[in-house]
This record gives sequence, structure tokens and C-alpha cells, in this order.
Amino acid sequence: MAPIHASKLSSTLSWFLLFTSVTTWLGAAEAQPSPNVQKRITQAIKAVTPNTRDIDYTKFVNVYIGTDNFGDVCPGASVPFGMVKFSTDLTGYAPAGYVTDNTQKIRGLSPLHDSGTGSSLGTYGNFEIMPSLCPGGFNSCNTTLTRRERFRKNNTDDASPGYFAQTLDNNILMEATSTRRAGLERFTFPKGSKPYFVLDLASDLPASFAGGTLDIDPQKGRITMGGQWGSSFGPGRFNYQAFACYDILDGGKQTLDEYGIWSGSTSAAIDAKLLGQTHLNLTRNLIGDQYQSGALWSYSGKSTNINIRVGVSFVSAAQACQNAEEEVGDASFEDIVTRSKALWNERLSKIEIDIPNTPNNVTEMLYSSLYRASLTPNNATGESQAEFANTEHFYFDSLYCSWDTFRTFYPLMSLHSPVEFAQIVDSYVDGWRKLGWMPECRANNLPGWTQGGSSADNIVGHFAINYHNEAAELGIDLNDLYSAMLADGELNPPEWDIMGRQANSYNQYGYIPYNVLETSGAGRQTREGSRTLEYAFEDFAIRQVAQLLNKTDDVVKYTNKSFSYRNVWDPSVTSDGFKGFSQKRFPNGSFAFTDPIDCSPIDKNGDTRECSLQGDNVVGFYESSAWEYSWYAPHDTAHLIQLMGGNDTFLKRLDHFFDKGYYLAGNEPSFQTPIGYHYANQPSRSIDRVREVVFENFDITPAGLPGNDDQAAMASLLSFHLLGLYPVPSTSQFLVLSPFTPKFTIHNSFLNVSTTVTAKNFNSRSVQKTIPKGVPAYVKSVTINGKKADSSCHFDFYDTFRVGGDIVIELVPDAESVNSCDGSVPESLSTGGWASSR
Ligand SMILES: *[C@@H]1O[C@H](CO)[C@@H](O)[C@H](O)[C@H]1NC(C)=O
Ligand SMILES: *[C@@H]1O[C@H](CO)[C@@H](O)[C@H](O)[C@H]1NC(C)=O
Ligand SMILES: *[C@@H]1O[C@H](CO)[C@@H](O)[C@H](O)[C@H]1NC(C)=O
Ligand SMILES: *[C@@H]1O[C@H](CO)[C@@H](O)[C@H](O)[C@H]1NC(C)=O
Ligand SMILES: *[C@@H]1O[C@H](CO)[C@@H](O)[C@H](O)[C@H]1NC(C)=O
Ligand SMILES: *[C@@H]1O[C@H](CO)[C@@H](O)[C@H](O)[C@H]1NC(C)=O
Ligand SMILES: *[C@@H]1O[C@H](CO)[C@@H](O)[C@H](O)[C@H]1NC(C)=O
Ligand SMILES: *[C@@H]1O[C@H](CO)[C@@H](O)[C@H](O)[C@H]1NC(C)=O
Ligand SMILES: *[C@@H]1O[C@H](CO)[C@@H](O)[C@H](O)[C@H]1NC(C)=O
Ligand SMILES: *[C@@H]1O[C@H](CO)[C@@H](O)[C@H](O)[C@H]1NC(C)=O
Repeated sequence: MAPIHASKLSSTLSWFLLFTSVTTWLGAAEAQPSPNVQKRITQAIKAVTPNTRDIDYTKFVNVYIGTDNFGDVCPGASVPFGMVKFSTDLTGYAPAGYVTDNTQKIRGLSPLHDSGTGSSLGTYGNFEIMPSLCPGGFNSCNTTLTRRERFRKNNTDDASPGYFAQTLDNNILMEATSTRRAGLERFTFPKGSKPYFVLDLASDLPASFAGGTLDIDPQKGRITMGGQWGSSFGPGRFNYQAFACYDILDGGKQTLDEYGIWSGSTSAAIDAKLLGQTHLNLTRNLIGDQYQSGALWSYSGKSTNINIRVGVSFVSAAQACQNAEEEVGDASFEDIVTRSKALWNERLSKIEIDIPNTPNNVTEMLYSSLYRASLTPNNATGESQAEFANTEHFYFDSLYCSWDTFRTFYPLMSLHSPVEFAQIVDSYVDGWRKLGWMPECRANNLPGWTQGGSSADNIVGHFAINYHNEAAELGIDLNDLYSAMLADGELNPPEWDIMGRQANSYNQYGYIPYNVLETSGAGRQTREGSRTLEYAFEDFAIRQVAQLLNKTDDVVKYTNKSFSYRNVWDPSVTSDGFKGFSQKRFPNGSFAFTDPIDCSPIDKNGDTRECSLQGDNVVGFYESSAWEYSWYAPHDTAHLIQLMGGNDTFLKRLDHFFDKGYYLAGNEPSFQTPIGYHYANQPSRSIDRVREVVFENFDITPAGLPGNDDQAAMASLLSFHLLGLYPVPSTSQFLVLSPFTPKFTIHNSFLNVSTTVTAKNFNSRSVQKTIPKGVPAYVKSVTINGKKADSSCHFDFYDTFRVGGDIVIELVPDAESVNSCDGSVPESLSTGGWASSR
């Protein structure tokens, strides 16, 4: 196994844990899950013929991709955008609950999780239940975390969309399936054993319990519980509330025997139980010791099957029970699985590919990615609390983080799901209404740490640019949306670490000054270089919407502000013979030098240097080097080419960047860089680079992601790569590459259109890291509904997926003969791009 290197990790916060969890990861000896999972998927893909009707797309999804190698994917049972994601919680590094590493033990099965987040502490994991065999009776049961934890039975883990199962090493099978806010659990005990259950009130993954209560109603067979917990990636001073309702008698089919409560602490060797007691009330422990507590019960008879219904709420315990009653009622486990799979098929069938002629791994990677691209954020509509309590608007939580998702996640959604996209945009704009600024990394119903700036601008901006004609019908008031963006651009928040931007200084200097005396707000004064680059692109989003709404003065102002990336460009810095890099800058205009190699994958001091949100990150860039972030001006690459010394130098520098190992596939600011060759009119080289990026960094195994999925930012990037497209955020432009499948159709049921893209001359032999000589893979021309497109490098949403029809991408084997856009290169602001709204 190759040693873990920084380049294997991705963005959001992974640097924090980089050097703590390596040892445990290397201990994973056998790959989980059950080998049957992959066998089943391969068989399902092979079984599809050109005549197959009613394809079940859930069969191609491998929910375990990204459950190893710090992918942090949750393979739990969820509906699309489900608030509930049932998964087991494991010891060690397991931010999403489950990990494949079988040297880790299972703490319990629980209903709340996030997927793909880089929080090293983990997120949610509240209300764990653990089935147990307690041969010595009630008082012998192991209740606290370290005592009740057990290994899995190796190679038996099994899950698919809407279904999750894991077997403990004592042969108890745990299964779960879910609705949006509730679900069913099914436990199968070995014959002849008496089923016991431990329910945990206090423990969550980040160990953030701040008090709560639990009540057992033995007659009703109902346990209600709730309390307060803290953030997984945000200031510790805020708490959120959550509630659960466990119905444990399966509508009267099961009979309770013993019941009671427990409390314990491993460090204090406390392990207390009270048979018959039904109420627990633990306030926040001010000394800071973690006293765990919960319920413990058993069933009479020797039933091997136990069914438990679970409801969850962020409002009240009563609402948690109501959610279970309304969403599950007395439906069977199989009913809920079937309903969930139907919802997933509705999502997955939005993109249909020619499966018989597509390489199997591509089909599996694509549908697994599309699955995760609808797994988050978590739809908590009707479950809002604190400032958002009783909001009339949609409410989505775990926007983890907008800096990760604006580049590919929302643009992918924009292609086929404007209704869902609009609901999430509504929730972002509501954040501005309730808090003054739109959320950046909001999660756990709490503010999270800001990474680049106000990345929500590029999310709501992308929506406005692509759907302004239908915005009202989709429930979005564009004037409110624009006001929310302007708040980011203009208003200095009290703390820019959790919302908005360091606006006053940025607006005054044209860049975020390093070593400035801040009097107008508080926040961590780090990452001045990368934050300036992100603010500039956020200003571009504001400029785009200003143009749409005919705010002429603002167009001028924000066009100018979007050029601020130039203000941190130090033309004098040289590295590896290349001249000019982004650098942080003092208030007096002088630059503060950072070696462009610092915080890159080949940084010799990378294991001691801080590169993330830490207060002693002094490089000026967030989770990146200056080598990496200096490519970042997606709206004005033409000028960046000039800054770098012209097309030839730009191309040489791009090659050097990849060949030398500065590129980080799992890092969001690098998403568009492999396609940079398009802007210097050499699109064939982008095609080669994307093939290489995909095959070096992605596959169908649990370790098949280059680090955190980042709320499916990676999944949606991979989807675009496989489809041969790349979206420029806050615009309606797509860059055209070479699809990994001969044909795909995108359905947009809101616009009532379908668009089929055919890769003419497609040859599956081109689908490998290096395209073999003589195999067609390079784009000669693009034809849109019978008319040859003006450029073979890009096209516009308004001419393609919005209107529907047929797009033909003609491929040829000779890269050099078609290594030009045969028309315009993709747009840049300074060369007249985006001169008017579509
Ligand atoms: C309880 O935990 C102890 C110590 O971890 C272990 O020895 C014992 O077997 C466990 N009992 C049961 C019933 O699992
Ligand atoms: C599963 O495999 C791991 C790693 O080989 C091993 O440590 C563990 O004991 C195994 N568990 C069981 C229940 O056999
Ligand atoms: C729990 O105890 C606290 C402190 O004594 C009290 O304020 C609160 O009302 C109690 N809550 C319940 C549900 O018993
Ligand atoms: C979110 O939940 C609300 C309330 O059930 C529902 O109306 C809406 O369609 C859901 N949206 C998504 C994207 O799941
Ligand atoms: C902006 O101006 C254009 C051209 O005059 C017009 O067609 C469009 O309706 C205007 N948009 C708004 C939101 O006023
Ligand atoms: C932006 O505006 C400032 C202040 O008016 C001006 O100094 C600067 O040259 C402008 N920048 C660009 C790129 O137009
Ligand atoms: C600008 O400020 C920095 C930091 O105080 C200082 O090192 C530098 O010499 C100053 N530059 C000029 C031109 O005064
Ligand atoms: C780079 O090439 C493009 C496309 O051929 C051309 O439009 C542009 O002017 C060139 N840029 C520079 C700085 O030479
Ligand atoms: C499919 O993926 C698996 C796992 O990464 C790999 O072993 C296999 O070689 C791949 N098959 C092809 C045809 O690329
Ligand atoms: C799509 O079709 C439906 C049903 O035919 C219709 O109600 C709706 O208005 C159409 N939407 C658009 C954007 O044309």
C-alpha cells in the first residue's frame, strides 16, 4: 500500500486530521464490504441489453465508494436529500459514521449523518441503538461506548440505495431503511437468544452533548428523547437541538420484558443501571466529564426478529413521533425499501446512458456519483429551529461547504433539477433574511467556518443566470436574491469567520490586506491570497446578476471588483523558472513573499506547515499552494494568460504544474485547471489531462475518491468528466470535452425537454488513462440540432440543454489535427465575454 501523502486528501478540513489518523487507516487489512456487493452490481450492468425497459438504476450504485481513504461518504439508508441517513457509527476516524476499516468497532446504529464532509471529529451520530446479547441479564449488559462496541462480522456489510445492513461479530444482523425524517430498523438475533437493546441519549460523533432528557413509556412501547449538541465544523459556543422517537413494540407484535435507564463513564469506572426507571434528565455537565446515559430494555419470548420504528425531528419529540407516524405508519420494512428505491430511480434516471456500450466501471462510477449528488444537502424543511424557526421557506441543512459545492454540485443540479435547485436557493436566500448574510458552511443547524468567502453568491448566481425566466414560477424572487448577494459584497459582518466577507478592508484596498489593523469586524486574518481570489469570483457572480437585472452602475462596479484577482498578482515571484504568482499583500501595497511551493503536495515541510483554517497558516492560501491557486480566475482566464506571459508560457506552465505534482485532484480550486488548455486554444490536451485525472484518482472501490467527497463536489466533478462537459459557475457556458460513454440523455422534466448527446465514432478503448494512438477521442466538431456549433470548445445552456434535442460531438483519432477550438475559445470577461445576459 502506498504511503499516504497530502495529495491523497482533499479540501474541507482534512488537513486537520492528516497526521493523526494515518496509522489506523493503514491497519485496514481486508477490504469491506461483502464481495457480493460488487458482484451484484457487475451482474446488473452486464444484464442490460439495448432492449431492456424500465431500468432499475439503483442496481448500478455502489454506495461504498468513498467509505475509505478519507472519502467520508455515508453509505447509510437515505432517500434523496434525506434528513435521516441510517448508518452504523464506528470508532476511529469515521466522520460519516461508517468506514470500511474492519479494525474499527461498531458503537451503534443511528439515524442522523452527513455525507462527504471533511470534519475530522465527525458529524451527528446521535441516538445510537445497539442490539446486545446479555446472557447475565439486565445488570450485566454493556451500555457505555467502550464496553458495548463490537467488531463486525467481516465481509458481510451490505447496502444499496435505501437499504443498509451490517452484522456484528456476535451474529446479530442490523438493517435499516428510511423516509425523509423517519425509518425502520430490523434486528435479527441468533436463534435462542434474548434480545437486549441499549439506546444512547448523550453520545454523538463529535462528543458534543450539552444536556437532554429521555422518557420511556412502557405501555405505549415508546421512548422519546432529545437534547442539545454542538457543531461538527464551526464555533463551539453554539448548540442545536434534536429529538428522536423510538417505537419499540412493532404495533403490539413484540412484548417488552425489562426496561430501565443507565448512566456511565469509562474513565470514572461508573456503570449504573436502574431497572424500572423511565425518566432521565441530564443538564450540561459543567465540569466537562462525559457521562453517558440512555435506555436499556429486553423483550419477552425468544423472538429472533425485532422491528423498531424511528422518527427524528429538530423541533420537538412530539414532532419526531409524528414524523414516524406520518412517513412510516404501519408500512413494512420492504414497503419502505421499495418506496425509497422508487425515489432514487426518479433521481438517477434524469441522466440515461447507453449502458451496453459503456465500460462497466464508467456506468458504476457515474450512477454512484449521481446517487451521491442527490444525497445531500439534507432537506430539513419543516424542521427549522432558532432564527429559522417556523420559516415559511424551504430549509436545507448541511451546506457543507458552499466553497466546495458551487463549482460542480449545483451546476449539475441545474442541468436536470431546477425545482430542487430552486428550493435550496430559497433556503440560501432565507439565510440572508434571517441572519443578514447567506450561509457558507452551515451544518448541524449552526453556522460553520467560512472557507473562501461568500461562495453562496456563485450558487444563487448560477441559478439566476440559468433560470431567471422561470425564477418566479420556481418561487424565487430575483430582487431578494440580488439583495442577498449585495449584502455579501457590501456589508462587513461582525464575524467573517462564519458569514459574509472581510468586506470593508477588501473594498477599501481591492484585496484583503495582510497585517492590517481591523477595526470593523472580527475574524481570522489568514488566507489573504486565496480569499481575495474567491471574493473576486464572487464579485463576478454579483456582476452577472446585476447585468441580468439591468443594474447598470453595479455592473460597472462589480465588473471592476471581479478583476481584484489581479491585485494579488506579484509579477516578480519566480518558481521553477515560471514568473508571476498570487501572493498576499501588505496594506501599503508591498507583497509578502510565500514560496509558491509551500503547502503543495511536494512541499518538503508539508508535514509541519499549517495549510488550512489554523491561525498559524501563514502561507496566504487555503488548503492550497500559490502554484495551485494562481490558476484561479475562471471568469477571466484570457487575462491570466497575459499575466503568465502568453499562450505558449501558459501551456508550458500547465504541463509543468501537472508533471511536477503540484496538482491536487481532490481540491476544489483545482477542478477546472485540467481544462485550462481550452483557453489557450489546445483542447486536445485538456482531453488527455482529464483522462489522466480520472484514471489516477477515481475508481469503483471504497478508496476510489481522492479524499473527501465534500458533499458530492467530487461526485459531481466526476460526473461532468465522464460526460465530457465542464460548467463555468455563474454562467451558462459549458466547456466541451470527450465523453466516456457513446451516448447520454439528460431529462429536464421542469422545462419538459430531453437532450441527447452522441459521441460520434466513440470507441471504448479510448476510456483509459492514456488514449491509444489511432483511437478516436478528440473533438473535431460539435453539432447542435443539425447546425455546426461556432466552436468545438464550448457551448451554452440556452442553446442546448434548455431547448432539448440532439448534440453530436464528433471524435477523431488525430489529436493534433483538431487541437484548436475551430472558432472562439471559451469566454473571458476582459476579452468581451458575457457582454449581455441570455
Ligand atoms: C462486556 O464488556 C466486557 C469488557 O469489555 C466483556 O468482557 C464482556 O464480554 C462484555 N459482555 C457482553 C455481554 O458483551
Ligand atoms: C475482521 O478482520 C480484522 C482484520 O483482519 C480482524 O482484526 C478482526 O478480528 C476480524 N473480525 C472478525 C470478527 O473476525
Ligand atoms: C431537566 O432538568 C432541568 C434542570 O433541573 C429543568 O430545568 C428541566 O425542566 C428538566 N426537563 C425535563 C424535561 O424534565
Ligand atoms: C423537501 O421537503 C419538502 C417538505 O416535504 C418537500 O416539499 C420538498 O419537495 C423536498 N425537496 C427536496 C429537494 O427533497
Ligand atoms: C433589462 O433590459 C432588457 C433590455 O432593455 C429588457 O429586455 C429586460 O426585460 C430588462 N430586465 C429587467 C429585469 O428589467
Ligand atoms: C477599478 O476601479 C479602480 C477605482 O476606480 C481603478 O483604480 C481601477 O483601475 C479599476 N480596475 C480595473 C481593472 O478597471
Ligand atoms: C510595507 O509594509 C511592510 C510591512 O510592514 C514593510 O516590510 C515594507 O517595507 C513596506 N513597503 C513599503 C514600500 O514601504
Ligand atoms: C492566446 O490564444 C488565443 C486563441 O488563439 C488568442 O485569442 C489570444 O489572443 C492568445 N493570447 C495571447 C496573450 O497571446
Ligand atoms: C474496474 O475497476 C476495478 C477496481 O478499481 C479495476 O480493478 C478494474 O481493472 C477496472 N476495470 C477496467 C476495465 O478498467
Ligand atoms: C411542462 O409541462 C407541464 C405539463 O404539461 C406544464 O404544466 C408546464 O407548464 C410545462 N413547463 C414549462 C416550463 O413549459
